[in-house]
This record gives sequence, structure tokens and C-alpha cells, in this order.
Amino acid sequence: MRMKDKVCVVTGGSSGIGEAIARLFAKEGGQVAVVDVDEANGQRVVDAIRSQGSEAILVRADVADEAEASQALLGVTQHFGKVDVLVNNAGVSAVGDVAACTPTDWDRVMRVNVRGVYLMSHFAVPIMRQQGSGTIINMSSTIAVIGLQARAAYAASKGAVLALTRAMAADHSHENIRVAAILPGTVYTPFVEGYLKRHYADDMEGAVETLKRRQLNQELMTPEDVAYAALYLASDEARFALGTALIIDGGVSAAKVF
Ligand SMILES: NC(=O)c1ccc[n+]([C@@H]2O[C@H](COP(=O)([O-])OP(=O)(O)OC[C@H]3O[C@@H](n4cnc5c(N)ncnc54)[C@H](O)[C@@H]3O)[C@@H](O)[C@H]2O)c1
Repeated sequence: MRMKDKVCVVTGGSSGIGEAIARLFAKEGGQVAVVDVDEANGQRVVDAIRSQGSEAILVRADVADEAEASQALLGVTQHFGKVDVLVNNAGVSAVGDVAACTPTDWDRVMRVNVRGVYLMSHFAVPIMRQQGSGTIINMSSTIAVIGLQARAAYAASKGAVLALTRAMAADHSHENIRVAAILPGTVYTPFVEGYLKRHYADDMEGAVETLKRRQLNQELMTPEDVAYAALYLASDEARFALGTALIIDGGVSAAKVF
């Protein structure tokens, strides 16, 4: 029960990595607020958590909308009385190099991935400051530290999330607000599956095999593999993980094998 009595807000908790984090935190005794624009899947996650005997609520909010982000955190504090952990996980992607990426796509990715993290943190920090404690975990990506073809906007957004994480750690560690980032490699979620279906519909199996070959252990990473990293960073055991950038990527950024 590593999250016992902790109120945890998980953005993008209706799907993929966020869903796995919400379920694991609840299993470990946390009270969970799923914040997402996808209400149907959010309700599915909340119902599943409740059926296991844990507490969860769904808050429909676009994290990149100022009023909705503010309302979301107000709603959580009204319901649970506090916010111990904020996982800024909601994210979107776009495919294309800098020439192919349209200004519309650039703005859409930056809006959710960067403005969304900023806004949720902007409204969470005063709550945590008043409580005298809190933990914020930002979902970056290995793409923040190694290049990947055809992901210009997405890479820039995740680099910004990593830089913001370190700036926030510098600003708030002395207030007992811990801030850290997770940098996952490729995780098999609806996010990645959707991309493969759009681009490799005629050979999904081949595309999945190519993904596997990129990993040092030749396996596909699951959302749960990332959720356990979030569990560590959110737990009291991580009290010295300040501004930490935790890479969980099957070794892709660590070594190259031929
Ligand atoms: N899947 C990967 O390979 C991978 C790798 C590295 C980092 N990440 C990051 O992990 C996070 C989760 O990715 P995933 O693969 O689980 O994606 P996913 O698409 O399965 O889930 C993302 C969730 O975010 C929600 N969301 C999107 N925009 C939102 C908004 N404006 N406000 C509130 N909710 C919103 C979606 O409705 C969805 O439920 C993202 O930040 C992503 O960039 C993913």
C-alpha cells in the first residue's frame, strides 16, 4: 500500500499509460482522480477501480484550458480535501519533420503537451504549498534526449516538459514539493497502436516486430512498465528524486546493438 491515503490526480487517465497509473495507484491504496477529455473511457477506468474497492472520481477537463484546469483541481480538493500527487500525463502527438508539420499541428501538440502541464502545475502548486507537501510527475519521453525521425513538434514539446520539470524542481523542492519526469520509450498503447494502424495498416505485424527489435530485450513495453516507475516517484521512497529524469525505454537510449 505505497500510496495509502494519498490523493492522486492523473491526467490522461482514461487510456494507456495514464490508465495503468490510475489503476496501480488505486491498487496501492491511493484515492484517484482521473482527469481527461474522454469521459466514456474515464468512467470505465473509474468503475474498474471502484469495483476493486478503491476510491476514484472522473473529472472531465481539457488540461490546456485555463478555466477547466483550474476547475478540475478545485473539484478534486472539494471532493478529497487535498492533492498529494499530480501526474501530468495527458498528451497528443503529430507526425512529420519540421517542414511537414503544419502550424495547426504544432500548436495542437504544444497546447496539450506543454500548456497543459504548465496549467495543471500552475493550479496545483499553490494547493501543495498550502498543504506543505506534494509530488508532481511530468510525462516527458526519451525523444526529449535522443532524436527520432518525423516527430518535430512532439520532440519539442517533450523537451519543453523535461526543461520545465527541472525548473519546477529548482523552484519548489524547498517547499517540499517534489517534481520529477518520466521519459518512456515506445509503449504499446492506443496512442502507438493508432499510429501503426494509420501508417502500416497493410503490415501491422511487421511494424510491431520492428518496434520490438529496437528494444535491447526485444520486447514491447507495456503501460504497466511505466506505471511502476510513476509509483516509485510518487511514493515516499523517492524523497531524493528531485528533478529526476527517469528513463524507462528498454535500453534504446543507452546502447546500440548490431
Ligand atoms: N505510448 C508511448 O509510446 C509513449 C512514449 C513516451 C511518452 N508517452 C507519453 O505518455 C503520455 C500518455 O500516452 P499514451 O500512449 O498512454 O496515450 P493515449 O492516447 O493512450 O492516452 C492519452 C490520454 O490523454 C487524454 N488527453 C489528450 N488530450 C487531452 C487534454 N487536452 N486534456 C485532457 N486529457 C487529454 C486522451 O483522451 C487519452 O485518454 C503522453 O504524454 C505521451 O506523450 C507515450
